[in-house]
Amino acid sequence: MKKRHKFTTYLLIVILPLIIMSIIYWRHLDRSIQKERQEQAEWAGSVYQEYIDQVIGETKKKLELLSLSSSVLYMDDKKTEHLMKWILDTDPRYADVYWVNMDGISLSGTNKAFYHYYLIEQADINKAIITQRAVVAEGKALNNSGINHFSIFAPILDHEKKAHGFLLAQITIDRMEKILNILIPDQALKLETSDHIRVLSINADNTSGHSKWVDFPLSEVDWTLSVQKPDTLNTNTMNVFLMLVFFTFFFTHMIYTAVEELLVRREAKRQKELTERQKIDFVGTLAASTAHEIKNPLTGIKGLIQLLVEKHPEEQDQFYYSVIMKEIERINSIVSEFLILGKPLARNLSIYDVRSIIAELRPIIESEARHFNMDVAWNIMKEPIWVQCTKDQLKQIILNTVKNGFEAMKDGEKLSIRVYHENEYAKIDIIDMGQGLNEKEIGKVFDPFYTSKKEGTGLGLFVCKRIIESFNGKIELTSKPLIGTTVTISLPLVTKHPRSLNDAH
Ligand SMILES: Nc1ncnc2c1ncn2[C@@H]1O[C@H](COP(=O)(O)OP(=O)(O)OP(=O)(O)O)[C@@H](O)[C@H]1O
Ligand SMILES: [Mg+2]
Repeated sequence: MKKRHKFTTYLLIVILPLIIMSIIYWRHLDRSIQKERQEQAEWAGSVYQEYIDQVIGETKKKLELLSLSSSVLYMDDKKTEHLMKWILDTDPRYADVYWVNMDGISLSGTNKAFYHYYLIEQADINKAIITQRAVVAEGKALNNSGINHFSIFAPILDHEKKAHGFLLAQITIDRMEKILNILIPDQALKLETSDHIRVLSINADNTSGHSKWVDFPLSEVDWTLSVQKPDTLNTNTMNVFLMLVFFTFFFTHMIYTAVEELLVRREAKRQKELTERQKIDFVGTLAASTAHEIKNPLTGIKGLIQLLVEKHPEEQDQFYYSVIMKEIERINSIVSEFLILGKPLARNLSIYDVRSIIAELRPIIESEARHFNMDVAWNIMKEPIWVQCTKDQLKQIILNTVKNGFEAMKDGEKLSIRVYHENEYAKIDIIDMGQGLNEKEIGKVFDPFYTSKKEGTGLGLFVCKRIIESFNGKIELTSKPLIGTTVTISLPLVTKHPRSLNDAH
């Protein structure tokens, strides 16, 4: 169960954020890479476009010019051949140059193997005749598989501006490809006619389809140039990505460790509180079961004291018996109140002058001091100090702490008791000159069952704390080893006159 809980925390704090952040990083990086590629493709495309337009435009102009001068020539095979060769030599971009008749069939040219070849389609011829300008052939020549050129031709017009043939130049595609590659390498490129016949392509079939094609229409012909920067995994990008992932992992791990630490601490605290509660429950059960048993013998003792009271009428004896009877009563009620350890506190509080409670305790404390062979010094404020409490329980608190003081001291040492008020609190200081306690021990004295004595229960101060807190007061202990200990009992002062509060005193 605990392992599963740990795994869930790890999943929520480390794995899930890591996956989400990795996806976000990757998408972000990918988007910026795509943008960069698009920009590169746009730039490269415009350079290519300019070059191709320039080649076509220049060829068109040249052919138009040459066709003008050619029109004065008559159909003389030798002279025509010579002219074609001369034209071919003027430009390295030309593959071959032909003289074509009005049916689109070559009559002469630089490559004899293609004499009497059907080189231009009727649609293209019509276009050239109508416009009387040079035209890029889009039809037949391009459909030939394995072509490595495309054709541009210009009509040869007579003096009546009537076409009587065409001058055709074939442009080498290989050379164009090479130059485009040199201009900007590493780009994918395709040049297609309006019928999607591919004229030229560089790396066009190796692309992943992840990057976008950017289209550029050519101005000299109705063709489209498409450019794409191919996807290549950039190691720099990968490094940035891995670094971000690593830092996220590191960061989430730190958070996970902190959360785990917090959870462990919380669990330890919870366990400690549970153990405390179990102890208190145990004490409560113990107290509840023994309280009844203690009350029975007390009743017997009370009966016997009663007999002694009748038997010894002397004043001194009567005083002792009355003190004994009072103490038996106190034991009786304390034993009953002992149940508070296991049960919620609900008592009728009354208002008392602390000094009157101290006065009742004084003979008991002094006789105890005599018993231990020690002195007691009293320092009690003259004016009344009103507090709200249960008398017997406050007595129990004082006696418990006084007893601890006596037990901590040696023969002949002095215990001081101060009763006063300060800052809205009634205070009772019990100061001893005993062996004292170190810091570690001070932290434990109010824990149930903590005792350093052979016959101690370790419940004295614990009970005191529980009771005093039920009166909204507090009990504090300060101590120095070998110097002594001061226990301060504080209770909120009652400012109103006690008689107006239905005093039970
Ligand atoms: N005045 C004191 N001087 C030195 N140590 C003290 C003093 N008061 C309390 N202590 C320490 O605190 C421990 C707990 O006190 P607590 O009164 O709760 O139990 P106890 O005195 O040991 O047992 P019991 O009260 O049942 O006799 C003591 O065992 C002692 O070590
Ligand atoms: Mg004690």
